[in-house]
Amino acid sequence: MGEEAAKAPVVAEAHEVDTFHPPQKMLAKHPSKPHLSSLEEYQQLYKESITEPEKFWGRLARELLTWHKDFQTVHSGSLLNGDNAWFLEGELNASFNCVDRHAIKDPNRVAIIYEADEPGDGRTVTYGELLREVSKVANVLKDMGVRKGDTVAIYLPMIPEALVAFLACARIGAVHSVVFAGFSADSLRDRVLDARSRVVITSDEGRRGGKLIGTKKIVDEALKQCPDVKHVLVYKRTGADIPMTPGRDYWWHEEVDKWPAYVAPEPMNSEDPLFLLYTSGSTGKPKGVMHTTGGYLLGAAATGKYVFDIHDGDRFFCGGDVGWITGHTYVVYAPLLLGVSTVVFEGTPAYPNFSRYWDIIEKHQVTQFYVAPTALRLLKRAGDQHVRNEMKHLRVLGSVGEPIAAEVWKWYFEVVGKEESQIVDTYWQTETGSHVITPLAGVTPTKPGSASLPFFGIEPAIIDPVTGEEIHGNDVEGVLAFKQPWPSMARTVWGAHKRYMDTYLNVYKGYYFTGDGAGRDHEGFYWIRGRVDDVVNVSGHRLSTAEIEAALIEHAAVAEAAVVGVADELTGQAVNAFVAIKDGNEPSDALRKDLILQVRRSIGPFAAPKAVYIVPDLPKTRSGKIMRRILRKILAGEEDQLGDITTLSDPAVVDKVIAAVHEAR
Ligand code: WTA
Repeated sequence: MGEEAAKAPVVAEAHEVDTFHPPQKMLAKHPSKPHLSSLEEYQQLYKESITEPEKFWGRLARELLTWHKDFQTVHSGSLLNGDNAWFLEGELNASFNCVDRHAIKDPNRVAIIYEADEPGDGRTVTYGELLREVSKVANVLKDMGVRKGDTVAIYLPMIPEALVAFLACARIGAVHSVVFAGFSADSLRDRVLDARSRVVITSDEGRRGGKLIGTKKIVDEALKQCPDVKHVLVYKRTGADIPMTPGRDYWWHEEVDKWPAYVAPEPMNSEDPLFLLYTSGSTGKPKGVMHTTGGYLLGAAATGKYVFDIHDGDRFFCGGDVGWITGHTYVVYAPLLLGVSTVVFEGTPAYPNFSRYWDIIEKHQVTQFYVAPTALRLLKRAGDQHVRNEMKHLRVLGSVGEPIAAEVWKWYFEVVGKEESQIVDTYWQTETGSHVITPLAGVTPTKPGSASLPFFGIEPAIIDPVTGEEIHGNDVEGVLAFKQPWPSMARTVWGAHKRYMDTYLNVYKGYYFTGDGAGRDHEGFYWIRGRVDDVVNVSGHRLSTAEIEAALIEHAAVAEAAVVGVADELTGQAVNAFVAIKDGNEPSDALRKDLILQVRRSIGPFAAPKAVYIVPDLPKTRSGKIMRRILRKILAGEEDQLGDITTLSDPAVVDKVIAAVHEAR
């Protein structure tokens, strides 16, 4: 296929799916040439990464990262034992790798392009300035008593100071625990308590889509129940009049003025934790996924280089929030490790109008753009006239977080990219740290809707969920697992290693289990089908149905709750809740609103159910297990395909649920 890599697009004969080769026009406007020259080169390197992983990763780790002390051992441990470690004995510092080494070479190079919520506001931050700012905040944190290994909670909007906060923690060996600033006070409290953070970094307010968000107010609320938090560092974003607790709360701008603009980075062992990031799983409580320094950074740098084909002088724009893994790896670490400029966008794609992303891309001559399909669906629906810009520097358009439908893929390719950029549909997870199944820009042929081929070091396996056996060969369907450890995989769940083992490594012994269903087609391309556990994906946000159910049950009127994800045109999936209320309560619109509010308060606005159905009872097996499958079928209008319901403890419940759904619609 490599010979033809330059021709585009080509329809694969005898198959119904189009295959698109890296566009010739992208290669023509490339500043030099892609890092890999052909699909064969990828295949060769891929083979080496699987058969000789130590040689492959050892070489890449020395090429892409700067080590304070070289490592002796590339890898130890196994998936079976859950004790993987990479680059043992090696020492390095994340902030040195992201900042110092570029600042030393070229202090005036732009590190951050800040595009504020209001168009026209914003500024750039050079690598030299970033080094000074990071050093000062690192000193402030030290002064607040933060030591190597301590966790620091970060609850900040999308502003350059968020990146400064990440890197200031890393500089002194503190473990950042970033909480998405859309989470409620209760969620923030749970994360601060679980991570035992004693310092929180926040802002007075945030600004998004023209609206103000009371970040400090939410922190104050959360901290009422976090007695161990000693200090809060507050960045002044809007100048709102907010209460400051004496002795606990300090203004960022006042504190940084007290300290010198250089502090030496703390040498960290490769396996020292770099950060925790909480994510939703099958059970109610979010998990603090832990990533380590050397392995994670290598994953970020390697995927930045090969997937996005990042070159010196590029301007990289990832639309994800730093509160999620996409923002961690591709707003912060990958572009900064590679020494290019990263766009930090505070606003939304719809404010002040639907051209916002395209205006930013045009204005800053963005070379790579990366976003979730949910935003693309919104913008596609808004109309092609909004995509009025030429955006002629674009070479790569990335998609992440959920499956991208073929029509949206094609719209992205044709209307946004003008057929001059390559689409990379990147599959990965909070736990994988960086891309695991993904095309490499300039190299991999793509099929709309397929995440294509494995990244280096990833050996996918399709497993039959019934037998637990791996299914070999092509044209197969099952659940997706990986057979080999890779550097950027999460090492544990904070304070719950058994949970880590049970969720990822004990499900199929010797494999890492992703929780996703997937197919491998006749050419070995992977098609991600979505979660096979109780996780729903709403607008690219990963939510646990169990967590939403737990929130609903906290309401005094609720006896039982069942939450399911249903297909939604705009958000991919939407949350629908079935609630059985206690005797003495009546169904009403007011109660429905109150239940939605309950979820907003307990988790955050983005988790709010789109529909709440109040039912007399839920369909359950005789042993009391709620049959969510039946609820899903009813919502899909497949009432005639419910299967055998005679095993339910009360089959008559089904008709009542159907009636409640019909009535509500
Ligand atoms: C889903 C986001 C299809 C998948 C980076 C995974 C995808 C979950 C894709 C992880 C993709 C992510 N195609 N599905 N390209 N990328 N997913 O941890 O279900 O927020 O398990 O990480 O998102 O979500 P998370």
